[in-house]
Amino acid sequence: MKTFIKHIGQLATIANEGTGAKKGQAMSDLNIIEDGAILFRSGVILAVGTTEQLKEEYAADIQEAMVVNAHGRLVTPGLVDPHTHVAYGGSREKEFEMRLQGKSYMDIMNAGGGIHATMRMTREASEDELFDQTIKRLDSFLKHGVTTVEGKSGYGMDLETELKQLRVMKKLQQSHAIDLVPTFMGAHAVPTEYKGREGEFVDIIIQEMLPVIAEEGLAEFNDVFCEKDVYTPEQSERILEAGKKLGLTPKIHADEIVSYGGAELAAKVGAISAEHLLKASDEGIQAMAEAGVIACLLPATALYLREEAAQGRKMIDAGVAVAISTDCNPGSSPTVSMPLVMNLACISMRLTPAEALTAATYNAACAINRQDTVGSLEKGKKADIVMWDVKSYQELQYLFGVNHVQSVWKNGKKVI
Ligand code: NIG
Ligand code: FE
Repeated sequence: MKTFIKHIGQLATIANEGTGAKKGQAMSDLNIIEDGAILFRSGVILAVGTTEQLKEEYAADIQEAMVVNAHGRLVTPGLVDPHTHVAYGGSREKEFEMRLQGKSYMDIMNAGGGIHATMRMTREASEDELFDQTIKRLDSFLKHGVTTVEGKSGYGMDLETELKQLRVMKKLQQSHAIDLVPTFMGAHAVPTEYKGREGEFVDIIIQEMLPVIAEEGLAEFNDVFCEKDVYTPEQSERILEAGKKLGLTPKIHADEIVSYGGAELAAKVGAISAEHLLKASDEGIQAMAEAGVIACLLPATALYLREEAAQGRKMIDAGVAVAISTDCNPGSSPTVSMPLVMNLACISMRLTPAEALTAATYNAACAINRQDTVGSLEKGKKADIVMWDVKSYQELQYLFGVNHVQSVWKNGKKVI
């Protein structure tokens, strides 16, 4: 089945050329086609151009295609969310109130709440319950124009529950329209029973968990919460290096609460991305630029924790490629709204509207090694496409906090 979308006011193709995340340059180059059109078949893009061009060159194909008139609306690649903790049990609305009354995120976590609370609820949930709770969130992602989602384990912190989370994600990858990219994050917190014996738990991750995860092919990436009172840079490095030997690419939750050398470590171990970075040092930012580490910034998390956002503007100006993400999780960012995250990237990190769109598409795809298949609209790539009920990408970023999604095609199939 072929589909032909015509009369697109702005077709933001975000074609690879010029947006290469490794260089981190030209993040604002959206490669806009006015009065654009796109033709796709069996989930793959056949052609992108102006309506006139395609009508001329693909007349025969268009004859047999389903024709959609965009009536001047904006069309972009499906959004990519490169950092979520989407497969979790329960919820933590009580902690939200506690934080509003003055308790800090880390106070709550150190008292056995926070990540530990979700760990207990995730351990208690059956595989089916976890599957059902996660599917709802994925449906909601799709409604917000997101077609690819990275998902982390890390609410088990024992092998059995880590495997349960990863298996649920694998099943969802097979059954849900969204493409789900799995990350192992056994080092998400130190389980309360290992407090004061962190090194022992690091050994368990390295010796008992990572080999099984790698053997079963349940994750592509290996992530660590490198933070004061969680994992030190040395412990994080051990875990990430051990994962590398098993073929898992490093990612790091870095410099979120305090400046802790996380950005520097990301450069040292050759992480594909470093996440959060609210407190990243200037040296760390420079090291990331030189090593080609993508900064995965989470402005909704900063807002939700009432913290100052990461220095996105400064990072781009320093030559770092920036991606953005919801960080969808039950504690610090219970949202699936990538459109809101794009708005916040502009408002609180001073990205331009064009940069925010690149950060949520092509650069986000680079942060999870999916740049060859998604993140831009080009011949041969997946037909993951969003039509927005606005006329321009500027309007999309300007009309704040609203879901402007009109239609979503995932693998060429209309899902919204
Ligand atoms: O990315 N910072 C650590 N992990 C998550 C939060 C997880 C939670 O609070 O449940 C984050 O913000
Ligand atoms: Fe996170």
